[in-house]
Amino acid sequence: MKKKSVRFETEVIHAGYDSSLHQGSLVPPLYQTSTFTFTTAELGEKRFAGLEDGYIYSRLGNPTVKILEERVAALEKGEVALAFSSGMAAVSAVLFTLTKTGDHILCSQGVYGCTFGFLQLLKEKYEISHDFSRMDSVETLEKEILPNTACIYIETPINPTMKLVDLQMVAKVAKEKGIPVVVDNTFCSPYLQNPISLGCDIVIHSATKYIGGHGDVIAGLVVGNKEFINRVARTTQKDIGGIISPFDAWLLLRGLKTLPVRMDRHSENANQLFQFLKKHPKVDSIYYPGDPDHEDYQIMKKQMKQPGGLLSFSIKGTKKTAQRLMNQLKLIKVAVSLGDTETLIQHPATMTHAVVPEEERRNMGFDDTLLRLSVGLEAWEDLKDDLEQALEKI
Ligand SMILES: Cc1ncc(COP(=O)(O)O)c(C=O)c1O
Repeated sequence: MKKKSVRFETEVIHAGYDSSLHQGSLVPPLYQTSTFTFTTAELGEKRFAGLEDGYIYSRLGNPTVKILEERVAALEKGEVALAFSSGMAAVSAVLFTLTKTGDHILCSQGVYGCTFGFLQLLKEKYEISHDFSRMDSVETLEKEILPNTACIYIETPINPTMKLVDLQMVAKVAKEKGIPVVVDNTFCSPYLQNPISLGCDIVIHSATKYIGGHGDVIAGLVVGNKEFINRVARTTQKDIGGIISPFDAWLLLRGLKTLPVRMDRHSENANQLFQFLKKHPKVDSIYYPGDPDHEDYQIMKKQMKQPGGLLSFSIKGTKKTAQRLMNQLKLIKVAVSLGDTETLIQHPATMTHAVVPEEERRNMGFDDTLLRLSVGLEAWEDLKDDLEQALEKI
């Protein structure tokens, strides 16, 4: 298909789709089918043998899903992408593909709770070990990479403490040692940060979040080079089967079109709430990459377009104080997930990170008084008023 533009705001609407190949349909059609018919038995034989391109069965590929994959690969500046039924299906497929028994994974200091759970499973069942690293200097990194390290796995910003990892620095060290770097880019979306352009190898998204953007889909995406994505598609994804449904891919294509507009507004709203919370006497500390006092502010300026729509803050008091605050909110919803139009608040210690042992949570840098806000698209003044009235009552 001819390339229409290289600008993100245009790619997000047009990449991967040529309406002339689909009866002129302006919007990509939904191929809601499980299988594809062959005009002859010989054609079926050729498709199975890989001698002719074409669709066979939707677990192996689907035209609506393909458009999504091509679009996201373009947005992440990678070669190809693969869509999954959830972010966790994407995370597990990538780690299964990259590791074998006896290997080691070096992880950023914090990861999403279920990714942490999956790392435990790899350790207990397959003897694939892992360590968490601050990844804050070349020296620490070089010391922590072991002879059997099969990959480096990073979340940045780190969930829920919003610490950042310098992706260019890690990619440089990893390249010298021939180790692939995987980045879970969920918190940024492809609009705010492109790890592949910074030298990393593989990008993962929970598309449930900003890519979908409307809280109505669970899905995942992986972007990488052709060789790696083929390996994931032919082995882990085909045989484990965590594929996305064509309808969910269609919803993601719809959500994606407004990604830049939404992300600008998420970031602006989060910045306004940060200004309010930072000065509030009942707030103990605030974790927001756009805070000039944030320890990683310079890394944010270097690798992110904007600070994004997430911030965490700890309340003076105890776990009960944090829970009381949540219970007083009227507009802001108590829910996990992020990147939706609605503003959501959650309590990581008892929700997303409940599976992480308390000591490990302390190592990650948070306790029971921490709350995470996913700032939505409402008028920020209304969100501020809601937080203000709830803070008054605790
Ligand atoms: C950073 C991050 N990665 C991965 C996931 C898992 O995604 P999903 O819920 O789509 O499986 C989440 C979910 O919250 C997440 O926040």
